[in-house]
Amino acid sequence: MPHPAEQKAAQPRPGESPRPAPIGHNRPAEADGYADTVARRARYLSPALKTFQAFDNPLMLVRGERQFLWDDAGKRYLDCLAQNLCISVGYNHPAVTEAIVRQAQTLQHATTMFFNPGPARLAEELAGWMPAGVDWGVHLVNSGAEAIDLAILMARAYTRNFDVVALRNSFHGLHGVGQALTGLSSCTQAVPAPPGFVHAMHPDAYRGPFGGDVEAYIREFKATIDYATSGAVAATIIEPIQGFGGVIAMPDGYLRAAFERTRAAGGLCIADEIQTGFVRTGRHKWGFESHGVTPDIVVMAKGIGNGYPLAAVVARREIMQAMCERKFFNTFGSNLVSCAAGRAVLRVIEDEGLQANARATGERFMAQLLRAKERWAIVGDVRGQGLMLAVELVRDRKTKEPADREASRIHHLMRDEGVIVGLSGFHKNVLRICPPLVVDGADAEFFGQALDRALARMERER
Ligand SMILES: Cc1ncc(COP(=O)(O)O)c(C=O)c1O
Repeated sequence: MPHPAEQKAAQPRPGESPRPAPIGHNRPAEADGYADTVARRARYLSPALKTFQAFDNPLMLVRGERQFLWDDAGKRYLDCLAQNLCISVGYNHPAVTEAIVRQAQTLQHATTMFFNPGPARLAEELAGWMPAGVDWGVHLVNSGAEAIDLAILMARAYTRNFDVVALRNSFHGLHGVGQALTGLSSCTQAVPAPPGFVHAMHPDAYRGPFGGDVEAYIREFKATIDYATSGAVAATIIEPIQGFGGVIAMPDGYLRAAFERTRAAGGLCIADEIQTGFVRTGRHKWGFESHGVTPDIVVMAKGIGNGYPLAAVVARREIMQAMCERKFFNTFGSNLVSCAAGRAVLRVIEDEGLQANARATGERFMAQLLRAKERWAIVGDVRGQGLMLAVELVRDRKTKEPADREASRIHHLMRDEGVIVGLSGFHKNVLRICPPLVVDGADAEFFGQALDRALARMERER
């Protein structure tokens, strides 16, 4: 039985047949209408997907170009979520398309057992994106969670320690090790957690118990190692800006101190750059670079493939060496088409100056957020760097009571306005604005006007 919202959503569009095509109907997928797809998805795809569905009234996407998406009814959206930050250089970038097509016509896959120039070139290019002076090795895989899992395995094999420290409110994926590291109850299945994972308090200047007192959070971090582990750790993993947790940037000094304390306990320092990497913050190539630290292991995914399944663990070579005593293999690590996409993405980011654009256009978007904060009391906080931004909504600026229903309403009203934003944070009251890196000042303006109208409409409704 479809979810009530889906039943409502499954109403046919004008000109569409009143009933979904019979399930199993043998015609091309492109011919399916909205109602067909809603019904077929409810009938056959895993119901777990509903827990992470963008809108109650599902949005069906049929086309994309640069920062824009079109739904099945032909409506255009400015995409400020970029498929959860996967679309870095824009939908259907011609250079990426060309690289993919060329590779697809030549050889679509070779497992890592066989050699091909593409993955070796991509590895060389990714190593070139890393801080100089370190002998980096690159291990290509398919998804963020897979890369996180491999990074932790590597750290344990190298250090021969077991305990791993993550932060509360973090998101590192929802499979196996990733889920064990993720520090959000809404994302943790009620099954016994694997041993060896502990969570330190995250430094949240807006909502955290110590406010902006960074030293207090650093003391908490040290206390977590002292009281919740054996005292010897394999690794600490940190997102330089917590993404799904609501865009919470590590404050100055925190990452450095956490890394120092990790190394003093025998552990390796892992930066999860799955959201902050590939120039998203506009300041540097990687989020950790704003903190003057060099991690031992860097995990990357999402923007690297512009939507193609591609991820990587980049680590000091000696760390990778520790896994050579046993075999290691994964069938789809370094798929050739994904690697071709990855190489094209790196070239486009540099050729089109997307780091500078993320910084400059990010400032234009931030100006719109600050304007909204001035005009609307419900806007409690605006924050972020480059094109990784957020608006936190509260019912009262003093008590900071989370305005979750209101945030959900704004999320839907923004869709009506033709803008897709994310909805996240522990309290589900944070709107995330993380568009493809190719947005421009006109998009920032359009976004700001849409946000203003959506806030005005919501206030009228309250
Ligand atoms: C910071 C971070 N780490 C890890 C992951 C997991 O990546 P994936 O969904 O590709 O498994 C995500 C996904 O959103 C993420 O944002």
